[in-house]
Amino acid sequence: MRYVVSFVFIALLVVGSVAFVRGAYSLGPIVVQPIDFNHTVHLDKAGLACAECHTDAATCVHAGLPGKDICLDCHDIDDEDHSQPEKAKLFDFAERDEDIPWARVAVTRPDVYFSHRRHVSSAGLDCLECHVDQASLTRPPARARLVMSMTACIECHEKNGASEDCLACHR
Ligand code: HEC
Ligand code: HEC
Ligand code: HEC
Ligand code: HEC
Ligand code: HEC
Repeated sequence: MRYVVSFVFIALLVVGSVAFVRGAYSLGPIVVQPIDFNHTVHLDKAGLACAECHTDAATCVHAGLPGKDICLDCHDIDDEDHSQPEKAKLFDFAERDEDIPWARVAVTRPDVYFSHRRHVSSAGLDCLECHVDQASLTRPPARARLVMSMTACIECHEKNGASEDCLACHR
């Protein structure tokens, strides 16, 4: 009986560690953004639309990340309080005339081809159909993450009569 119990215990331990290591890898590398940007504040208080900051979404493969000039349209380096640490970082980039080095966090696999123009302009889809929780983020995600699974891509393609050919997405 004792042997059976310790065998079950060891087996569980092995299965558990394998699952843990796989999980840790699938989470992607840790990302620290140069400014703790808050999406919710900018959508609710500033009333911005996604495409006002991600300006390439309708016309290019990549949606793009905002340069500091877009931020400085609203945030006035002379009038605003520099004691808010995240705003102070924005004003430091402005004073040094440096680009804000945003890191990519929303990704797909390297062999998968995905075009924003095709989905935003041709298919007329809303950003939040795919970036489901983006509007409720009060700070950037701590790790790079897959935007969606292959199943989610294919479910919508099936519904809309878009291509389900492996090579349309895997290039
Ligand atoms: C259309 C105007 C507008 C634009 C463009 C804009 N902001 Fe804001 N921002 C606001 C408003 C309104 C608030 C809320 C009031 C406040 O804290 O000043 C805010 C708040 C903030 C705050 C402090 C609040 C918090 O919770 O973090 C930071 C930091 C900030 N913005 C950074 C940025 C950065 C970086 C950009 C460019 C990527 C940007 N903003 C673009 C209007 C704007
Ligand atoms: C005021 C400008 C602003 C607005 C408006 C805005 N974003 Fe962003 N977005 C940013 C900035 C700055 C980052 C990079 C920092 C971060 O991840 O929070 C970012 C990051 C992202 C990312 C991850 C990007 C990457 O490189 O991996 C996605 C996805 C995204 N935004 C989607 C949206 C969607 C969808 C909306 C509308 C619901 C939206 N954003 C509205 C400024 C904005
Ligand atoms: C049909 C699904 C879908 C729609 C609709 C969509 N996205 Fe994306 N988005 C993705 C996928 C998938 C990625 C990862 C692509 C990659 O790694 O090249 C991504 C990546 C991003 C990124 C990361 C940085 C970059 O430059 O691409 C941003 C920012 C972003 N999307 C913003 C938006 C905004 C803003 C809209 C609406 C105007 C939008 N997306 C509409 C699926 C979508
Ligand atoms: C509409 C786009 C699309 C089509 C069509 C598609 N894939 Fe994918 N595939 C993806 C995306 C996105 C991922 C990455 C996300 C994931 O792993 O779920 C992926 C991931 C994969 C993976 C890696 C899964 C893993 O667990 O690492 C394999 C293998 C794969 N696809 C094979 C195929 C084959 C074979 C076909 C044709 C029968 C196919 N795909 C059709 C978009 C697609
Ligand atoms: C919410 C619906 C939806 C989702 C989710 C979606 N797509 Fe699409 N996709 C479409 C539609 C609709 C089209 C056809 C657009 C057109 O040409 O007008 C399309 C077209 C495409 C094409 C061009 C196909 C061709 O015939 O050349 C590729 C490649 C593609 N999608 C990849 C992806 C990948 C990869 C994902 C997941 C990361 C994805 N799509 C998720 C709706 C979606």
